[in-house]
Amino acid sequence: MKVHELPIPQQLKEVTLSGGIAELYPPQEEAVNAGVLDFKNLVLASPTASGKTLIAELTGLKHVLERNGKVIYLSPLRALASEKFDEFKKYTNLLKKNGRNVTVGISTGDYDQADPWLQRYDIIITTNEKADSLLRHRAKWMDEITLVVADEVHLLNEAERGPTLEIVLARLIQINPDIQILALSATINNVDEIATWLKAQYVITEWRPVNLKEGVLLNDEIQYKDGDARKIDHKTRNPAINIVLNTIKNGGQALVFTSTRKNSVSVAKQIAEQTSEVLSKPVKRTLENEAEHILNTGERTRLSEALANLVRCGTAFHHAGLPGAHRKQIEDLFRGGKIKVLTATPTLAFGVNLPARTVVIQDYRRYEVGYGYYPIAVLEYKQMAGRAGRPKYDKVGEAILIAKTADEADYLMDNYVLAKPERIWSRLAVEKIIRGHVLATVASDFAKTETGVYEFFARTFYAHQYDIKAIRSLIAKILHYLASEDMITTKGDNVNATKLGKRVSELYIDPASAVVIRDSLKNKPINLTDFSILHLIAHTPDMGPAMRPYSNELDQLGVILEEHRDELFIQPPNEWEDHFSYEEFLAEIKTATVLKNWIEETTEDALIEKFHVQPGDLYKTIENAKWLLHATDELAALFTEKEIVRLTSELMERVAKGIKKELLPIVKLEGIGRVRGRIIYNAGYKTIEDIKHAALEELTNLPLIGPRIAKRIKEQVGGFVKKEEWDRLEKGEEWRQKALSEF
Ligand SMILES: Nc1ncnc2c1ncn2[C@@H]1O[C@H](COP(=O)(O)OP(=O)(O)OP(=O)(O)O)[C@@H](O)[C@H]1O
Ligand SMILES: [Mg+2]
Repeated sequence: MKVHELPIPQQLKEVTLSGGIAELYPPQEEAVNAGVLDFKNLVLASPTASGKTLIAELTGLKHVLERNGKVIYLSPLRALASEKFDEFKKYTNLLKKNGRNVTVGISTGDYDQADPWLQRYDIIITTNEKADSLLRHRAKWMDEITLVVADEVHLLNEAERGPTLEIVLARLIQINPDIQILALSATINNVDEIATWLKAQYVITEWRPVNLKEGVLLNDEIQYKDGDARKIDHKTRNPAINIVLNTIKNGGQALVFTSTRKNSVSVAKQIAEQTSEVLSKPVKRTLENEAEHILNTGERTRLSEALANLVRCGTAFHHAGLPGAHRKQIEDLFRGGKIKVLTATPTLAFGVNLPARTVVIQDYRRYEVGYGYYPIAVLEYKQMAGRAGRPKYDKVGEAILIAKTADEADYLMDNYVLAKPERIWSRLAVEKIIRGHVLATVASDFAKTETGVYEFFARTFYAHQYDIKAIRSLIAKILHYLASEDMITTKGDNVNATKLGKRVSELYIDPASAVVIRDSLKNKPINLTDFSILHLIAHTPDMGPAMRPYSNELDQLGVILEEHRDELFIQPPNEWEDHFSYEEFLAEIKTATVLKNWIEETTEDALIEKFHVQPGDLYKTIENAKWLLHATDELAALFTEKEIVRLTSELMERVAKGIKKELLPIVKLEGIGRVRGRIIYNAGYKTIEDIKHAALEELTNLPLIGPRIAKRIKEQVGGFVKKEEWDRLEKGEEWRQKALSEF
């Protein structure tokens, strides 16, 4: 099917053609035949790299251009949302709607906002969680949505994120009964079941634009699914590395999936020496600069140093312990062909387009605390394998599993390479997960009666798959709990949210977290300090288990606990009677202690050393802490607890920046974080007024403050920058940069 024959606006045809796409791929053609461009609901299930996004783009833009419609694009991950945003952004200057450009917006953060500014966009990209929180705020523009795209819809199967997605879809259908639904999925076993739930047609294909050769390596020989076999040079003792070396020798790039972060770093280190040999001089020079850039974004840590050293050699690792900026930089470098080999944890398995000719899946098993080793799902294997052979980059791709014995090789061939992905199941009926959704249903007026609540949940994938009766008693139990905690009131069949219930729902916290906070506020410790609040939020179920202590840390944490005992809102369980709970409690103490160290300006590297916490986890904990401090602040305000509000409002700012109180005034300046803030402060500029009186050159003489930053500071404080002075400084900087790059 040719693009110029499609039932889409002329300008959209032209833009698609000029983007180099003249003909649809077969799965895309089937989607069109199934009526997706005639606004029919569709579940499109087709292999990785088969071009599902283009269908979403064409359908979405048709809504905007022809129907005055509004599109919401749901993505399971922030990184993927930003890739999709970039893809849609390409269209904005090229397409005109009533004489103006088509607009695209993205919103993935801050769950306590209605984001009315999103109203102005035609296409809005969000994560599932953000969409859920927007629905709770009853953002007005959501009533105008005419198309919802649910990307990677097989994630319904995921314990944490799946339920949010099904709730969001059910609510969008509830508020806009005429909405078109386009769900994009990997090939899974029960596509039809998702389709009947969504009242959609479905398309299932096995077609892929680039041949993906899947195989298993045993003793230096790869056995492929199609019967081919190939020998690999035995250069090192690690078979994964041998495959990778073979690929780069032939001019390709490789992606190695490892099961743990630690392995991703160690494998990258083993590969790096060899990749270095294939790099050209100019690429080496670029990588040198990129390595410097890594060291200069954020604080310098052991992890960033390790990464920079590898990048110099054309190799890198990618995992959730890295700061987001570094991850993005690495993805871009790999995409640009500068980095030849990337080792990654499965965070990179979904949806992304990367130029990997070869994907190696080093370990088909995963370890979980308290559970041991278990084999990964076929679906996950297929997603990882599918990062190889993407149409823009390669003509063929290969995905290789590693076997140690002949037996294992057979097992891998049968159970992964030749296997069909499993069915997916709704994960909604878990009390902790569904609690907040039941409250939100009442609090945001999606239902005004108990019957209405049941009716809403009858529209979920869970009810479709299992029958509503299966969760009825769970919902009844939760309604009872919410009533007993004063979040809702019931009268006959009527249900209403109280002021507390409404606020809790909008704050996007688990009602159980709100109960912990509210009850604590009534029962203050003898000695109320920052640590009291930090531990309180660490104690809520929403903080999550990011900061598991290692066994050799427990004694030290026990000591810290004793030091702070009279500051705690919640008293610890008895160490001898309930050892398990006691250790859980020490994990909370660890979280609180890390946060406390963070706001005492302990360096990131020292935090890594002291608590074995990596930057990525630290940032995640900080994000969670900011959100829960905001929730505590709001709840304290609701109960007019002034003393608490005073503490929380200051803590929110300090945790956000990682600073002592004295830096609060100067970090308000843009471009000034904890490190530069401390340098400026220690140089004697303690207030905005002090900075106003500083000469530009005095600021530039401080470490880490170049002319550009100094100028930005001066402009923000309302200081005047003399032209001659600026020219002189800028010249100096140019000269310095040049000298550095030549060096
Ligand atoms: N008709 C086409 N002609 C040429 N290239 C195309 C066509 N359709 C899509 N592509 C290209 O194919 C690549 C892969 O597409 P896309 O990211 O949509 O895959 P996907 O099906 O969503 O895979 P995944 O399941 O991995 O998310 C993109 O780079 C896209 O530009
Ligand atoms: Mg995709």
